[in-house]
Amino acid sequence: MRKRLVAGNWKMNKTYDEAVALVSEVVNMVKDEVTGQTEVVLCTPSIYLTALKQYLPVGGRISLGAQNCHEKASGAYTGEVSAPMLQSIGVRYVILGHSERRQYFNETNAQLAERVDAALANGLTPIFCCGESLDMRENGDYLGFVKEQLTESLFHLSAEQFASVVIAYEPIWAIGTGLTASSQQAQDMHRELRQHLAGKYGDEAAQNTTILYGGSANAQNAAELFAQPDVDGGLIGGASLKSRDFTTVVKANN
Ligand code: 13P
Repeated sequence: MRKRLVAGNWKMNKTYDEAVALVSEVVNMVKDEVTGQTEVVLCTPSIYLTALKQYLPVGGRISLGAQNCHEKASGAYTGEVSAPMLQSIGVRYVILGHSERRQYFNETNAQLAERVDAALANGLTPIFCCGESLDMRENGDYLGFVKEQLTESLFHLSAEQFASVVIAYEPIWAIGTGLTASSQQAQDMHRELRQHLAGKYGDEAAQNTTILYGGSANAQNAAELFAQPDVDGGLIGGASLKSRDFTTVVKANN
């Protein structure tokens, strides 16, 4: 059985006090209201991760994640955060290849392959993002484009390494736009991507891979998206910044 997961991607939001308040609220609400098996990951700004650890329930289903890590372990890379640093403070997840990082920081598939390696070598679970632009969706081979993102950044992994990877399909045209992919569009892409994974790693490994949907998923539409057979949860941006909305999204994935 593949795991179900809801991850909040806070992006570059919240001051420290606001972050403490939000994590505390989410922990309380998720603890009291959610009884299922969904795992919850809060990907906050890295600067808060150490301090926020103390607000998580011990041994619970809620953990912290980073939003990026560098491919090198250490060195003269001003402003960057490495995978060993994240591991050393007990972080378990790291988002890699978010479209905003690809767009604004020029991250490439080849570089992301190295970041995936760094994450895995340090015991972190990569939440690897893929997805096409609006122009690609309307005029291009969007399926081929997204498959290539997976091939170029992940397919060098051994089967054992690949088993630790979570994938997030995030169509860029749906991120922060209020334009959600329909549940059918999400299901179609997830099924295709799972087949692509099966071609490399076999059916069983593909069936065991958690594939999240991201892009304007919220309290209103999450249940329908998560009900699709190949959608195993979500990577949530805007709606993860409000405790009640995020809790509703988590509940929708039970
Ligand atoms: P929104 O949920 O705000 O559209 O963001 C999605 C996202 O980019 C999550 O990584």
